[in-house]
Amino acid sequence: MEVLFSEKDIRDRTAEIAREIDRDFARSGVVVIGVLKGAFIFISDLVRLITVPVTVDFVQLSSYGTGKSSSGSIAFKKDIDVDIAGRNVLVVEDIIDTGFTMEFLIGELQKRGPADIKVCTLLDKASRRIKNIDIAYTGFQAPDKFVVGYGLDHDEKYRNLPYIAGLK
Ligand code: IMP
Ligand code: MG
Repeated sequence: MEVLFSEKDIRDRTAEIAREIDRDFARSGVVVIGVLKGAFIFISDLVRLITVPVTVDFVQLSSYGTGKSSSGSIAFKKDIDVDIAGRNVLVVEDIIDTGFTMEFLIGELQKRGPADIKVCTLLDKASRRIKNIDIAYTGFQAPDKFVVGYGLDHDEKYRNLPYIAGLK
């Protein structure tokens, strides 16, 4: 395993993103919608650094493809409880790869009449993108490798690593 982003790299970058979010949502506050399970650690660190009023909720999605990437067929395994009509929403993901997952989620949330939806992802594997996604906040550009740690898994392992590593 090769460390790509250390604990300090992640901590520093998360603090920078939190400052941008504070500035951008100062007037409106924000509804953070985290995508389980991969984003759980990033969300918990990020929201503790946000000072504007924040509501936190989660979705979990299932996709029928291989474990490593999503296909076109995605569904809610767990939906949010909060009403997002008229609210400013920030979707927080661990990694955007092909973009199928995020495209599905934004499309579903849009039907509920939010004032705005922005996307924050810890990692952007832009080289593999199939669906164009407008990302407002990116932690790091990820290489075209399978990455684990800091919430991201391979077969449900490695989520607890405090850093992000590439699997060899
Ligand atoms: P997409 O729909 O192809 O953009 O895939 C997004 C989802 O695939 C992410 O939320 C992850 O769950 C998973 N995924 C994609 N690449 C990786 C990786 O390198 N490590 C761990 N999970 C990944
Ligand atoms: Mg995920």
